Amino acid sequence: GTCRPFEFPGAGLSGRAQMPSPGLLVLFGSQTGTAQDVAERLGRDARRRRLDCRVQALDSYSVVNLINEPLVVFVCATAGQGEPPDNMKNFWRFIFRKNLPSTSLCQMDFAVLGLGDSSYAKFNFVAKKLYRRLLQLGGSALLPLCLGDDQHELGPDAAVDPWLHDLWEKVLWLYPVPPDLGVIPTGVPLPSTFTLHFLLEAPRTCSEEQHGASTDPQGPPSERQPFLAPMVTNQRVTGPSHFQDVRLIEFDITGSGLSFAAGDVVLIQPENRASDLGRFCQALGLDPDQYFTLQPREPGVPCPAQLPQPCSVRHLVAHYLDIASVPRRSFFELLACLSPHELEREKLLQLSSPQGQEELYSYCNRPRRTILEVLCDFPHTAGAIPADYLLDLIPLIRPRAFSIASSLLAHPLRLQILVAVVQYQTRLKEPRRGLCSSWLASLDPGQGPVYVPLWVRPGGLTFPETPDTPVIMVGPGTGVAPFRAAIQERVARDQTGNFLFFGCRWRDQDFYWEAEWLQLERKGCLMLFTAFSREQERKIYVQHRLRELGPLVWDLLDRQGAYFYLAGNAKCMPADVSEALASIFQEEGGLSGPDAANYLARLQRTLRFQRDRRF
Ligand code: 2AM
Repeated sequence: GTCRPFEFPGAGLSGRAQMPSPGLLVLFGSQTGTAQDVAERLGRDARRRRLDCRVQALDSYSVVNLINEPLVVFVCATAGQGEPPDNMKNFWRFIFRKNLPSTSLCQMDFAVLGLGDSSYAKFNFVAKKLYRRLLQLGGSALLPLCLGDDQHELGPDAAVDPWLHDLWEKVLWLYPVPPDLGVIPTGVPLPSTFTLHFLLEAPRTCSEEQHGASTDPQGPPSERQPFLAPMVTNQRVTGPSHFQDVRLIEFDITGSGLSFAAGDVVLIQPENRASDLGRFCQALGLDPDQYFTLQPREPGVPCPAQLPQPCSVRHLVAHYLDIASVPRRSFFELLACLSPHELEREKLLQLSSPQGQEELYSYCNRPRRTILEVLCDFPHTAGAIPADYLLDLIPLIRPRAFSIASSLLAHPLRLQILVAVVQYQTRLKEPRRGLCSSWLASLDPGQGPVYVPLWVRPGGLTFPETPDTPVIMVGPGTGVAPFRAAIQERVARDQTGNFLFFGCRWRDQDFYWEAEWLQLERKGCLMLFTAFSREQERKIYVQHRLRELGPLVWDLLDRQGAYFYLAGNAKCMPADVSEALASIFQEEGGLSGPDAANYLARLQRTLRFQRDRRF
């Protein structure tokens, strides 16, 4: 049995049912924000039930305290290839330490809610493995593991909703709601996290020009303290007839204290379009030029990073509120509570109810309808939103990560990225636009100085430092970006054995850095293999080139200890390339199917096969 049998009241009363509430701890590991969203929803559900509740990212929680926690719900996504999300990596290492005693968590009741995608082989791998480990460490499972599934025909919440219902039944039996207070019903809004006080006059001095960034920076730039980098180049690098607008963007990082190596990524904090800002303020009846101060209602709750005080509505909306994102269900829940208009309120309640999830999906998720557009669809509600609730209602704009495409050894004091401008059509009239890429593309350094808030962090890729270990890099499309940094770095250090497989549609439309590659080839510093997918009848992709060069690839990997790298966002490309490798191992190395798979797994374990994890 994996799960302790649950005793209902009357069937041998648990002594703890009489004890005061010790509080619930919700810990999440979230890659894209979905797990965080569910965790926060649990937090709100707890507050409605008068239960003290803390909601934290796993890595921001001091894990040694876990031993004292009586009741913990873990909400965990599974990233990419079955890895834990970035904000639980430290926790993951800790909890799997071999020397933890098997009674470490014997005081703890726990529950694990996994969020995954059953189209991936390692479906909910993190949640499953965590659940087993918590049992092993002496924890008691309050209820069986929940396996949320993005592919569920009734939407991602289909497995989550009934599980949460069971969870609350069990939690409330252990820690009943004090009868004198009662449950706060769903239609009533919880108090806002912040209070917002409008000022009668604009302040005489303000720090908004700095993006709130400190003028006296301490340490290297970070999320709390981005560097305002002047953009020096913004150049379209795809030909005029190419379907996609791809930009080579260059920043001047003089004086920033930034440093980076091949494989690192840059994080960029984008801002909303001016026209969206205007529409938003109009829909909510806000004056963009009015100033306010912001205070948390409860002590200890931090204000958003870098928010200047006082702050103008314009600044808040431009830099903080992610009004161009697709709203989550919690948005509709809160909006319904705040709506003074009967018809709109009914509709909003419907969209946030368990039965309304299919409708919500086709209204919002499928056509990628944005928060701003939804607000315009509910004008009476939008016009009545109390400003205190803005930060509960609308998520913060998140920074976007780009692979750095240049090396400091080749371009000192510069940082380059390759940006595909995201734009596509859904059934909605207005085209959908990627917030960060279209903002970057809109900036024109030729018209005067433009500044972009950014910082860097180590990326998923690391390259060997030995002078003659070969590297095989497979990067079709913009996936080539991190490999340009690597090749520049390796060439500057006289490292030999650089093999690049690049794929694009047309030699004369989207062959990024063609001249640079050819020059390096002529100098003998690079071996380049290209796959132009549309220059002949039949598609030719990088994996076809790999297969053609099977003997070389096998020799490099098996005899010369080469490292293999893969980056790019074409949908099936990673799987296709892995498959090509497996068949090379069979044909050239004479391995059986299972042995070929093991060989690849071993390369992965020893970091000799690495994938850009952002895709
Ligand atoms: P296509 O658009 O002609 O299908 C960069 O995007 C290159 O990657 C393009 O040439 C694109 O080809 C190609 N590509 C698309 N799907 C791929 C896949 N599954 N494997 C490898 N390359 C792919």
